[in-house]
Amino acid sequence: MNDPDDANQPAPRAAGRPGVGDQPVALFLPCAAGAEPLLVDEVGRILGADTQLQVDRGGLQVMTDALGAMRLNLESRLAQRVLWPLAHGAYENEQDLYALARTVAWGDWITPAQTFRIDTSAQRSPLHSLNFATLRVKDAVCDVIRDATGERPSIDTRFPDLPLTLHLSPTHATLYADTSGEALFKRGWRDAQGLKGEAPLKETLAAAMLAAAGWQGRAEDGPLFDPCCGAGTIAIEAAQIACAIAPGLQRRFAFEKMLPFRAHQNSWSRLKDAARARQHAPEVQIFAGDVSFRMTDFAQRNADRAGVAHAIEFKTADALQRMPPAPSGLMVINPPYGERIAPMGSRGGERIHPADRGQPRPTREGFEGGGSPTEFFSQLASHWKRHYAGWTAWVLSPDMKLPQALRLKENRRVPMWNGPIECRLFRFELIAGSARGKPDAD
Ligand SMILES: C[S@@+](CC[C@H](N)C(=O)[O-])C[C@H]1O[C@@H](n2cnc3c(N)ncnc32)[C@H](O)[C@@H]1O
Repeated sequence: MNDPDDANQPAPRAAGRPGVGDQPVALFLPCAAGAEPLLVDEVGRILGADTQLQVDRGGLQVMTDALGAMRLNLESRLAQRVLWPLAHGAYENEQDLYALARTVAWGDWITPAQTFRIDTSAQRSPLHSLNFATLRVKDAVCDVIRDATGERPSIDTRFPDLPLTLHLSPTHATLYADTSGEALFKRGWRDAQGLKGEAPLKETLAAAMLAAAGWQGRAEDGPLFDPCCGAGTIAIEAAQIACAIAPGLQRRFAFEKMLPFRAHQNSWSRLKDAARARQHAPEVQIFAGDVSFRMTDFAQRNADRAGVAHAIEFKTADALQRMPPAPSGLMVINPPYGERIAPMGSRGGERIHPADRGQPRPTREGFEGGGSPTEFFSQLASHWKRHYAGWTAWVLSPDMKLPQALRLKENRRVPMWNGPIECRLFRFELIAGSARGKPDAD
């Protein structure tokens, strides 16, 4: 979240009369720590390079209006949410929060017939109980509406009409309307049930890996390949980029029910129509595979729901044996690591993936032999050096010593967070028989 302690940071402008949504305000777009520069580029592409931005740790402030907020929800692959500022100020106790929340013109945002919810986050807040802080803000919303109408809105923790976010720093509180509702990594195509034993990447992280690799799905970006695709998140994200499919087209957003956005319903329909009209066939090849037939099959079904099954070539195969699907290209990969997902395959790791127990086993690629993750990476590197000269591999790992395990020298390492796990995205230029990557300036 933004750090309102920073004296240089402009306080977000509270939305006020007239015409909430017509005036630009400083939206806050949280993103994974480390992804801020990538989000700056993305917001520039979505709203225009002259958009006023301010980078904070873990997100950006973006000056824009209701149309911009809708556009960001529809188009951003990297933002976690789009938050609309309602109030910002110093606080010492819960009464200050109550007073701050009372400054909002709640009648612009909610009717007594509607519901709301408040999610509170805090960084070193002096308050003892965040629950009590949340309760006081809830009281303020209800009191303002009751004073004006005689009735009060109710709370719905699951499907509120108005989701609110309260952020508490040690000294300042900021209250936002969450225009996204569900976090933006939920694109609307993933099977809610998932697969047992599956550990998919968040879509926002997969998008950050592709953005850091500079892959934008254009013909000149070349083929993309994820040989350990799991649920297929990287390949699906890549295919949507290659087909210009807006990430938010398959889901709904909280702003669709918010009062200030009602006046913008036609613009919202036009934005979605324009996004649909710009979709096109991919100009690059995208390949994906997994040693587990169940995962490849699952990924294929995910791709189908995401509208990109035609754009990805899936194959059940052992990454330690699979030959390059094209003469050169980019591998973007989140390989198996740790206890949860042991590497498998003909020459490494667990014999049967938990998700595959009791399932038909692939015949050709096999699950023979055993080995440790170290062995897996050493064999992967040998295979790459022998067969993947001319490819570039971007590998996400929490293991800072991955280059040693691969016996490859990375020429870039980008800090990224996989949820709470600190990772690096390593870039390796693969050269025949060489253990060294090409030196690189960046
Ligand atoms: C960390 S998960 C990848 C998650 C994926 N990025 C996603 O979004 O779902 C690692 C995947 O590597 C696969 N795997 C393990 N050993 C493999 C091998 N030898 N060849 C290919 N895939 C392998 C596992 O089945 C697992 O699905």
